[in-house]
Amino acid sequence: MILVTGGAGYIGSHTCVELLNSGYEVVVVDNFSNSSKESLARVGKITGKNVRLYEGDVRDLSLMNKIFKENTIDCVIHFAGLKAVGESCAKPLEYYNNNLYGTLVLLDAMKANNCKKIIFSSSATVYGDPEKLPLDENCKVGGTTNPYGTSKLFQEIMLQDLYKADKEWTVILLRYFNPVGAHESGLIGEDPQGIPNNLCPYITKVAIGELKEIGVFGNDYDTPDGTGVRDYIHVVDLAKGHVTAIDKIKSSGVYIYNLGTGTGYSVLEMIHGFEKACGHSLPYSFKPRRAGDIAACYADSSKAFKELGWKAELGLDEMCASMWKWQSMNPKGYK
Ligand code: NAD
Ligand code: UFG
Repeated sequence: MILVTGGAGYIGSHTCVELLNSGYEVVVVDNFSNSSKESLARVGKITGKNVRLYEGDVRDLSLMNKIFKENTIDCVIHFAGLKAVGESCAKPLEYYNNNLYGTLVLLDAMKANNCKKIIFSSSATVYGDPEKLPLDENCKVGGTTNPYGTSKLFQEIMLQDLYKADKEWTVILLRYFNPVGAHESGLIGEDPQGIPNNLCPYITKVAIGELKEIGVFGNDYDTPDGTGVRDYIHVVDLAKGHVTAIDKIKSSGVYIYNLGTGTGYSVLEMIHGFEKACGHSLPYSFKPRRAGDIAACYADSSKAFKELGWKAELGLDEMCASMWKWQSMNPKGYK
């Protein structure tokens, strides 16, 4: 049985689908601070199976102990946390409290209940300004530029220290690049609250007419068309990466993998990819660079392929088409 913290969220809900489809039983704990129960109802619709839900906060130790007592948890996938880069600069204490304290309480409960296998949602953000491209797992980490990124780095370090002290732990750090896309059913997808900060949800809101035009943050980067380049990865590929890690990693240790496609796309390429999917042109204009952004970031994901046999299968067309399907079928998200 797998405990998925933050399982109602964007990546969590897609991972629940892949876990259930692979025959795992799934328990979710979520406080719905950035999601709704409807996503889990949709997971049920897609898979014909239900997750066992505990509504509450991972920082609530008595709740976490109760979950471990009432279920036989073999492994935890830890998604729960706050993730908006800009907001983390304005509210650093909230971010450190939720992300660091949340992980500490979870680990205490795991230890007390003798569950010592965890997959942690980390991020390419831990590499700071890339030392080289593509980024491999041996590249230096650090130099994070915002509390969100720093919280990911600290959590990685905490988990590695835990293994150093107790070699029974299995710690799997998955460093996601830029997750985009939605399930092919169009039933689950990313449902950001308010005006999106990230590029793809912003593009989808422009495509549906809810927002006027896309602001392209900088066209003078040292990249082929001057706009920022990122490694966008389909959320279904990402979700499958978690299932593969559970299936393949059987012995204790610390395992670190980049989950990306290895291909970088520019902001303009993403806009054009989306135009193809939605069938009409999308208005955009160039704006100044966004503070804290880097020119380019993409992964060398060959370690995940070599050791786990995992690689991303879905490309730009599938990413854009699935986002468009989700947005058109659910113009107001889960509301
Ligand atoms: P999300 O906000 O959709 O999902 C997070 C879920 O955790 C939400 O359902 C939220 O309600 C829940 N949650 C938050 N704090 C909680 C708490 N204290 N107790 C219980 N539940 C709590 O975000 P996502 O995009 O699905 O991201 C999942 C994880 O992946 C996060 O840790 C995020 O930092 C990481 N990540 C995301 C991206 C990305 O671009 N989406 C990139 C790299 C890493
Ligand atoms: N961008 C625009 N206009 C927008 C939004 C973004 O031009 O309205 C550009 C950015 O400047 C950047 C690219 O689009 O060049 C991607 O930006 P996102 O905000 O979508 O993603 P980031 O790469 O900045 O960050 C994301 C997550 C982080 C995570 C990081 C690496 O938000 O949490 O990927 O995984 F850490």
